[in-house]
Amino acid sequence: MNTSTAKPPELSNSPVAAGKKVYIETYGCQMNVADSELVSRILAEAGHQIIEAPDKAEVILLNTCAVREHAEERVIGRASQLYGLRNRTPNLTIGILGCMAQHLAKSLPQRAPFVDLVMGPDSYRRLPQILADTAEETLLDLRLSRDENYVGIDPVRKVGTNAWVTIIRGCDKFCTFCIVPYVRGRERSVDSGEILRLVGNIAREGSREVTLLGQTVNSYEDGHMDFAELLRAVSAVGGIERVRFTSPYPRDFTAATIEAMAALPQVCPALHLPVQSGSNAQLEAMQRGYSIEQYRTLVKQLRRAIPNLALTTDIIVGFCGETEEDFQATLSLMKEIRYDSAFMFKYSERDGTYAHKKMPDDICEEVKKDRLQQVIKLQEQISYEVNQQMRGKIVEVLVEGPSKRQTKTGPNNYGRSPQGKVVVFPQQAAPNTFVQVQIDKTTSHTLFGDLVQV
Ligand code: 5AD
Repeated sequence: MNTSTAKPPELSNSPVAAGKKVYIETYGCQMNVADSELVSRILAEAGHQIIEAPDKAEVILLNTCAVREHAEERVIGRASQLYGLRNRTPNLTIGILGCMAQHLAKSLPQRAPFVDLVMGPDSYRRLPQILADTAEETLLDLRLSRDENYVGIDPVRKVGTNAWVTIIRGCDKFCTFCIVPYVRGRERSVDSGEILRLVGNIAREGSREVTLLGQTVNSYEDGHMDFAELLRAVSAVGGIERVRFTSPYPRDFTAATIEAMAALPQVCPALHLPVQSGSNAQLEAMQRGYSIEQYRTLVKQLRRAIPNLALTTDIIVGFCGETEEDFQATLSLMKEIRYDSAFMFKYSERDGTYAHKKMPDDICEEVKKDRLQQVIKLQEQISYEVNQQMRGKIVEVLVEGPSKRQTKTGPNNYGRSPQGKVVVFPQQAAPNTFVQVQIDKTTSHTLFGDLVQV
């Protein structure tokens, strides 16, 4: 198979050779999940059929993530495994979408030569046209856009309790470790009118919860509304009873956003506030734009304004130049803040980032591994203790459905508390309704209890 950059076709509304069965598999963050929902709509509108399993698919699309290393290895492994289905479906088309497509465009055709098309996150409107082309070469379409916000496309959502709504795309922060600005392009906010149109449709379809999404979600500004104003407008949409958002950038948190969170009963008391490190030297090296003192002050303001706020975070260990002292500062910060939970990562160098170009990846794998184990162990303990304080309390749960956790007494249902914690209970309850659950048992990840009438 030759590799060439095909001239991208013009935006087309006239699908050709439509009607294929398409299977989409999604990796990475919630924004990717939301993007796959967009792709589903674009393909469905063009007459294709989205199916839930790969075996009968004529087109398999992997929507990928490039933020950390192992994600890429997994996707390439999975793509070659799915390629085996070509025995059954000789015309099988395999496509790589999303951030990894953008990132690995040059090497992918060598690493995975059976891949037919590679498209970055701003190219999805052109997918129907590209699928209609029967090219011999791998088709690459990786142009990043300054304004593609997929306005007018309602994502295909599985009706459930929560719906994702992307409100801002791309990122302009350029943290030194992070690949996102290079694979998702410049920051741009979706027009607030479009967001409210989507949220209104979501409410009509029956979802009671929306999660507003963006790489730096609280940097939202469309010329009419800032993030605090958007929170108020979204909360005012009839039928929407819970509003969440992820992920905010600490430096862009405003007093107005804290006020809106405190004042609006719809906005859940749950916040994912990535800190990355407890050391000012590391924050400086990462170019995060805040100090630990500023972060700590923000957390104090948030906790004062929003009682019962659940706080979660992201932590990177082993970033360039991280000394034992820097690492100890991260452990101390975790003990001080006592996050409800955390995503914890070993630093992995990403091609093209500032750190890749200018900063040696000088912490050896052994030390990275050891530090990661230490933060995980500490956080497990803290999460366990924080959740234990919930014993005896009654929490409002939005029911999602049957739980995978079976107990001796039989099947269970589950849902989420306002804090975003998974709550498991044995009684029957209809999905998408609110119930009250009295918690009697907890682990570091889950709360267990029984329905009560209040
Ligand atoms: N190495 C390790 N972790 C990373 N993250 C982003 N880039 C890297 C990297 N190069 C983590 C950060 C971010 C989360 C989404 O992924 O903690 O907040």
